[in-house]
Amino acid sequence: MPKKIAILGSTGSIGENTLRVIADNPGRFEVVALAAGSNWERLAGQAREFSPRLVSVADPVNAGHLRNSRSCGARVLSGDEGLLEVAAGAGADIVVSALVGSEGLAPTLAAIEAGASIALANKEVLVMAGELVTQRARARKVPILPIDSEHAGVSQALAGRPRGREVLRIILTASGGPFRTTSLESLCGVTPAEALRHPTWKMGPKVTIDSASLMNKGLELIEAKWLFDLSPEQVDVLIHPESVVHALAEFVDGSMLAQMSVPDMRISISQALCYPERVPCQVPRLDLARLGSLTFEEPDTGRFACLGHARSVLVEGGIAPAVLNAANEVAVEAFLGGHIGFMEIPALVGAALEGRPSGSGDSLEEVMGADRWAREFTASRLNGVRSKVRP
Ligand SMILES: NC(=O)c1ccc[n+]([C@@H]2O[C@H](COP(=O)([O-])OP(=O)(O)OC[C@H]3O[C@@H](n4cnc5c(N)ncnc54)[C@H](OP(=O)(O)O)[C@@H]3O)[C@@H](O)[C@H]2O)c1
Repeated sequence: MPKKIAILGSTGSIGENTLRVIADNPGRFEVVALAAGSNWERLAGQAREFSPRLVSVADPVNAGHLRNSRSCGARVLSGDEGLLEVAAGAGADIVVSALVGSEGLAPTLAAIEAGASIALANKEVLVMAGELVTQRARARKVPILPIDSEHAGVSQALAGRPRGREVLRIILTASGGPFRTTSLESLCGVTPAEALRHPTWKMGPKVTIDSASLMNKGLELIEAKWLFDLSPEQVDVLIHPESVVHALAEFVDGSMLAQMSVPDMRISISQALCYPERVPCQVPRLDLARLGSLTFEEPDTGRFACLGHARSVLVEGGIAPAVLNAANEVAVEAFLGGHIGFMEIPALVGAALEGRPSGSGDSLEEVMGADRWAREFTASRLNGVRSKVRP
C-alpha cells in the first residue's frame, strides 16, 4: 500500500523537494493533500501532476482562481480552515510540516491529534512549543521524523543509543552562511540581496536570512533538544563551510560518529518519508577524495549574536524560545522589506528577550500569548528603529 502524504507548504523549497522525492519513487507514495500560501498557479500545476483530493491556499480569492482553473480536480479550501483540513482531515499517514514560522504550529498539532506521523522541516514549531508538541506526539504514539539535514544526521549518528549513559553531546554543523568572514563593521551595511546569497543551500527567504545571522543554527539547537531529549549542555555547534558533515555524535568512550552527504535536502526528506527503510535517492555521490579536506571552526557569537540569544533561551526554557522566535520573524521580515539593517535583527531580538514577561510555556494559550506579545513589542520597537535608520 502506498503511504498517504499531505504537505503543508508544498510550493516552498522543502515542499517542492518533497514532491521530487515522491515523483522519483513511483508506487511508494500517494499525495492526498497539498497546502500553499499565495502561489496558487504553482499549486494548480502540482495538483495536475499528483492528483491530491484536497488543496488549500491562504487567500479565499486565490482559492476561487484555483477552482476556476480547470486543471485542478481537487476539493479547494483556504485559510486556517484549509490548513487544518490538509493536516488532519485528508487521512494522511505522514504530514510533511514545511510551512515557515509560527504558522505551522496549529496544523502540526492537528496532524498529531489525527495520528499522522510528522516529517518536520518547520523547526519553529518545536522552538515555540517543544514541550507541548513532543508530549502530544508521545501521547498519540506519533513519531516526529526530522527533515532538517542536521537532525536527520543526529538521528542516524545516535541510532537509538541511550542518551543518558552513552552520549556526551551532539554537534550540529553550520556552513557559516554568506557572512562567515565578514567583519562586524561591514555586517551593519549588508543588503537583503547579499544575505539571500547562501553559499551551499538553496532555501526559502526566511531560513536563508536565519542562516546568514546564525539564528537558524540557534533554532536548530532548540529543535535538537526536543527531538532527542538532550540537555542544553549536550547540544553544540561547529562552523563547517563545506556542508558535507551535517552532524556528529560524541560518545563517552571518546568516539565520534559523523553523518555525511552532499548538501541536498532530498536525502533527509527521503529518509523521513521512507523511515525506517533507506531507498535510492537521485542525488550526486559524495566524493571525499575530490573534496580533499574538511574544515571546522568555532562560531563567533560576537559577530553573530542571534546564536548567543538562542543559546540563552535554550537554557532558560519556558516562553523565552517563543519570544525569541516571534521577535526574529518580525525582524527578518522588516530586514527583507529593506526597513532595518542586518544588525538590527539581533538587537530587536535581544530587546524582546530583555523586556519579556515570564511564563512556563506549558499551555498553548501561554505560548500563543508570548508569541503575540513579542510580535507587538518588536513591531513597536521597529517603528523607532525604522525612523532612526530612514529619517
Ligand atoms: N529550504 C530548506 O532547505 C530547509 C532546510 C531545513 C529546514 N527548513 C525549514 O523548513 C521550513 C520551510 O522552509 P522553506 O525553505 O521550504 O520555505 P519557503 O520556500 O519559504 O516555503 C514556505 C511554504 O509555506 C507556504 N506558506 C507560507 N505562508 C503560508 C500560509 N499562511 N498558509 C499556507 N501556506 C503558507 C508557502 O506558500 P507560497 O510560496 O505559495 O506562498 C510555501 O509553500 C522552514 O521552517 C525552514 O526553516 C528548510
